[in-house]
Amino acid sequence: MFLKKSYYLLFPFLIILIITCQNEKKYYTVKKNVKFISTPDPHSFSNITQIKLNHIFLNLEINWKQRNLSGFVLLSFEKKNNVDTLILDTKDLEINNVLSVNGENRKWWKGKTDSVFGAPLFVLLNESDTSIKIFYKTKSAEALQWISKEQTNDKTDEFLYSQSQAILARSWVPCMDAPSVKFTYSAKIKTKPGYFALMSAENPQSANDSGIYFFKMSLPVSSYLMAIASGKLEFKSLGKNCGIYAESGMIEKAAWEFADMQKMINTAEDLYGRYVWGRYDVLVLPPSFPFGGMENPVLTFATPTVITGDRSQVALVAHELAHSWSGNLVTNQTWDDFWLNEGFTNYFEQRIMEKLYGKPYDKMRQVLAWNDLEKTIETFNKEGLAAETKLKLDLKGRNPDDGLSDIAYEKGRFFLSHIAEIAGEKNFDIFLNNYFSKNAFKYMNTEIFIDILNKELLDKNKKWKDLAQTEKWIYGEGLPSSAVKPVSIELQRVDKILDSYFKNNSMSAIFDTSGFTTHHWQYFIRQFSKKADYNQTEEFDKIFKFSNRSNSEILCDWFTHSVKINYIKNRNQIENFLTKVGRRKFLMPIYEQLAKTEEGKKWAKSVFEKAKKGYHFVSAQSVAEVLY
Ligand code: BES
Ligand code: ZN
Repeated sequence: MFLKKSYYLLFPFLIILIITCQNEKKYYTVKKNVKFISTPDPHSFSNITQIKLNHIFLNLEINWKQRNLSGFVLLSFEKKNNVDTLILDTKDLEINNVLSVNGENRKWWKGKTDSVFGAPLFVLLNESDTSIKIFYKTKSAEALQWISKEQTNDKTDEFLYSQSQAILARSWVPCMDAPSVKFTYSAKIKTKPGYFALMSAENPQSANDSGIYFFKMSLPVSSYLMAIASGKLEFKSLGKNCGIYAESGMIEKAAWEFADMQKMINTAEDLYGRYVWGRYDVLVLPPSFPFGGMENPVLTFATPTVITGDRSQVALVAHELAHSWSGNLVTNQTWDDFWLNEGFTNYFEQRIMEKLYGKPYDKMRQVLAWNDLEKTIETFNKEGLAAETKLKLDLKGRNPDDGLSDIAYEKGRFFLSHIAEIAGEKNFDIFLNNYFSKNAFKYMNTEIFIDILNKELLDKNKKWKDLAQTEKWIYGEGLPSSAVKPVSIELQRVDKILDSYFKNNSMSAIFDTSGFTTHHWQYFIRQFSKKADYNQTEEFDKIFKFSNRSNSEILCDWFTHSVKINYIKNRNQIENFLTKVGRRKFLMPIYEQLAKTEEGKKWAKSVFEKAKKGYHFVSAQSVAEVLY
């Protein structure tokens, strides 16, 4: 009797076990299948070669209290051959139901979860299925940051924004999360009445009382370019097809800072062809945004740390705008080709800046960038990571975020500058114009690019081809012999001042800093840092009040130097900065420097523990890696 009873009790567990095994079995057979079709993207589970995703319709509600998004996504696609399974990327999503277009249930299951890539979602398709509706809810979506009132500029309302690049779109939309897959999208979003909802799509210019908005992106984009934001905002037009969204207390400052936006668009079009996206707007986010800017089509997301009151960081707009061609039109096939997005964009940004503000101005930025690049190469080499200094990366099995370094940006840019130098800027511009128009809405990889570069430019002159050293730049480590260090006459002024200071150890009459821009100061601090001791640091802080500046670029450089020299008088200011700003570019050098000593690390941990609730996942994760 006793035995019989326990057997009976075990019965439900046995059934669960059988179902689980079946699911696992299914998973492995399909997984094998995935391997067999060898998905060409190492960071996506989706069967992108078997199914072509055409359109995504999102119907989502922003639940401010629960801090999640819920609703459904309708994915429309074409099947190649007779594929019976749709495989999508998901990360930490609660999937509730999967239906066909006429409401029939479809069998679905999730595969094993990977801590970086999330879990594949398998949906068994009927022969006639060309769309699938998935009801879901986000959990602690890594792409999304929910900002409390206190963390905003105006401190009156909450705020939400997404950051999908590189592989976080899957944490708020089940999708084919691979940059080579392009689709159009539309959406119905419900937020708090009176709040704006904005997306990387046609956007409203005034908030409405229902809190319901409809969106349309009718040009094909990759998943990493899907974006959403919501909050109490204002809009201000800055020209024919551009404007700015920001909190009320920030809108005028932002409008002043970015007054040249229309000129930038016109200059970009003069350089590399028509701007095809319609409007170009910028959304100013709260300071926790982990990046400087994000090129979400039609609506760049930007950190408020570029609103410095001196227009010194407007290159960020030039950069994100340039992505409307390099990245958003012609897109890296996988994150291994990231330099095709960022190196091209950096070059394009440089050209816009030179045209608008003159070559001597941009030379300062180039010298700063070159020095950063040299430092990055040196650090990678020291750490035995020389392979990371190649333009073409191998990020298989790794978080593509690992590929985010100066190499893609700066080595990429200096390579293209070098090509322009040998083939002539005019010829290179014609080449780039064709490159963008012929490859618009397609993906690009390094090998196809080299082929096009040879055929359409370098083959025209044997000398060019030899001088280019293309293979060395792209597949080689460090900088090849043809790399030329930029020279800035403006920054040579800084060198002279500092040389004389260190020689005489006093500030003589030669110490003339009149007309210094933020770039002069950044260079000044970085060069000073190479030789300065504690007393000199203290002296300079007294005279130039670096610790109390409001420009984040200057603060970041100065605080990094202070920590290096063990100058601890400005720890309050450093703590303030690390608590207020969440931009990873500023956090990392300071935390990394702090982590070099026991005392520094201990103090950094105590600051991080207080500050981390205000950081986006991307920044919090990077800092945690350094400290723990
Ligand atoms: N697309 C990048 C930001 C990015 C890269 C996000 C990789 C996630 C993964 C953006 O265009 C960018 O490069 N931003 C820079 C600004 C810039 C002026 C170089 C940044 O955030 O610092
Ligand atoms: Zn960029």
